[in-house]
Amino acid sequence: MGFPTVRPRRIRSSQRIRNLVAETDLGPERLIAPLFVQEDAREPVQIEAMPGVYRWPVDAVADEAKRILDEGIDKFLIFGIPARKDEEASEAYNPHGVVQTAVRKLRKELGDRATIMTDVCMCQYTTHGHCGIVTQSGGAWRVDNDRTLPYMGKIAVSHVEAGADVVAPSSMMDGVVGQLRRSLDEAGFTDALIMGYSVKYASSFYGPFREAAESAPAFGDRRTYQMDPRNAMEALKEAELDVEEGADILMVKPALPYLDVIRLVKEAFPQYPLIAYSVSGEYSMMRAAGERGWLDEDRALLEAMYSIRRAGADAVITYYASRAAKLLREFDGRVF
Ligand code: PBG
Repeated sequence: MGFPTVRPRRIRSSQRIRNLVAETDLGPERLIAPLFVQEDAREPVQIEAMPGVYRWPVDAVADEAKRILDEGIDKFLIFGIPARKDEEASEAYNPHGVVQTAVRKLRKELGDRATIMTDVCMCQYTTHGHCGIVTQSGGAWRVDNDRTLPYMGKIAVSHVEAGADVVAPSSMMDGVVGQLRRSLDEAGFTDALIMGYSVKYASSFYGPFREAAESAPAFGDRRTYQMDPRNAMEALKEAELDVEEGADILMVKPALPYLDVIRLVKEAFPQYPLIAYSVSGEYSMMRAAGERGWLDEDRALLEAMYSIRRAGADAVITYYASRAAKLLREFDGRVF
């Protein structure tokens, strides 16, 4: 029997060699931390389905952001939970609403040390929990795309007026990116970035978020606006439209069950930054298994993040952001 002529094991022989040839890197600058702010909370409320994740009172959110900043994460994605909901989501564009107030505080406390991103949507703000204006006729209802768009523009402008750097429309309304670009430009905010939730699936992995944000639809579901999980090629149409409408950054969401879609979008649009949103259900699954001792949560969460990066995402939105930053520092390149 001869010797193997090629021995792939050589490049795995030590930590130093593995680090030398690793194809994918991950640092805190690649991570974005979501933050929930609740208007009527007096103290942090832990989200039952997301242990370790809290809804923060407006007055406490800047301190939490500073704690995360100290871990090395300097990008935040802000979600608001308003005290009052109505049919037209008026709290979503109230200049003194929960997100606008929180963003002003964050801007004041953090200065330019952090990039502040906001989720632009209606579902937390509407009594019916849908992401747009609902029209009813007879027993039937629909989310009215074109009546929704101007509201989205108003919401985005109010966030940027408060100090947001990046607005992220998540409603999956057709034309929403173009609407935001027009509204922002007309208001003079030509420098505000738009991160489209370009490819967003109708996913059961959002379950824990809907508890967190009190945004579950009161009737029906989101399948007439969010994408069908069976489709991958359709992602290219959505991404292409966001590009044409002026998105600065594209997104795929969720992340782990859609690694193929991340790869597909990155290969089709390599010239555009692509961010993946590792959603609430992805966090809760790993958290739950970790708590039971069924897997090594620290290693699993980093492996998942490297996988998302390896698939082609430039950055990851994750509820594990600050924990991952701490782990990356502690492991000091000895993760795998
Ligand atoms: C709002 C929105 C949702 C998420 C982000 N923005 C929920 C939804 O579409 O139902 C989900 C985030 C997560 O699960 O972590 N439209």
